[in-house]
Amino acid sequence: MIDRDTLIAAAREAAARAYAPYSRFHVGAALGFADGSVVTGANVENASYGLTLCAETAAVARAMNGGWRGELVAVAITGGRDGDLAEPVAPCGRCRQVLSELAQLGGTDPLVWCAGAEQVSEHRLSDLLPHAFGPASL
Ligand code: THU
Repeated sequence: MIDRDTLIAAAREAAARAYAPYSRFHVGAALGFADGSVVTGANVENASYGLTLCAETAAVARAMNGGWRGELVAVAITGGRDGDLAEPVAPCGRCRQVLSELAQLGGTDPLVWCAGAEQVSEHRLSDLLPHAFGPASL
């Protein structure tokens, strides 16, 4: 099992690599896999604002390009204005769907830790995205 504090620390490190000159809102995500692997991502903004990639989506793209298909057991997310990671940040709706695809491939229901400096809210992905559409829906 992935250690909660380790995964949150990885998300914090990732947030430091955010490219967010427009919103100045830095987000880091860390994906924890059953074999202990951790894959991170940070948000990547664009001068054409709507093309922004969220941290969780960047992390999922990295993981799937690295060969992972499922085995996703936990996700840590942290973020804040100008890199101030004080308050917990919840994943946006699109990212919930993107995370769900990877989770469903392995039949897991990952824990999602939304981490602030002191407070961490813990959820199941299925609680954040109930009745999810996914590969089995097609
Ligand atoms: N953002 C994420 O990276 N993940 C989320 O789940 C919510 C929003 C990013 C997108 C944008 O770069 C910035 O936060 C402000 O919306």
